[in-house]
Amino acid sequence: MDTIRLHDKTFKPYITAEEIDLAVKRIAAEIARDHAGAKPLFIAILNGSFMFASDLFKALRMPAEICFIKLASYKGTKSTGHVITSIGLDDDVFGRDVIIIEDIVDTGKTLSQFLPQLEHQQPKSLKICSLLHKKETTVYPLEISYLGFTIPDRFVVGYGLDYDGLGRNIGEIYQLAD
Ligand code: IMP
Repeated sequence: MDTIRLHDKTFKPYITAEEIDLAVKRIAAEIARDHAGAKPLFIAILNGSFMFASDLFKALRMPAEICFIKLASYKGTKSTGHVITSIGLDDDVFGRDVIIIEDIVDTGKTLSQFLPQLEHQQPKSLKICSLLHKKETTVYPLEISYLGFTIPDRFVVGYGLDYDGLGRNIGEIYQLAD
């Protein structure tokens, strides 16, 4: 695979489609094992998680529901530090086994601001599932129950993740090269 150019930056291949596929199947199996007999409600955080959420949901061999909400704290490659909710949560989470699907946890601010809102609605259980985790930069402590890959503090794109709108439709994950 070659490098790619998005806007003014160059990205190099980082995680292959095969590696992503294996991680998705492993996570689906872990979730099914932990929720045997239950009917979890997945809440996928748009936009970045749409591809991961779709593949993960397809890989699940159990009854489950999914809904989508939108939270954003990013502009370009730097966190703006504040969370904006632009599409609300319509589903009733009271008494449900809720699993949040994120594309990436960076500082952890997005989720740490959103979790109390959900906890307020008294789900039976609340777990986080993220494809990627930039562990070194996470300042808001969060327990990620289901994780694809721990990655260093370097901007990545592809598989739903964007750099100023571009790169979401790439089937692999690329890392900033310069
Ligand atoms: P946090 O609130 O700092 O954890 O940021 C989480 C959100 O920032 C993710 O859902 C992404 O939308 C975005 N983000 C963080 N790191 C990256 C990256 O390397 N590439 C693309 N988006 C990122």
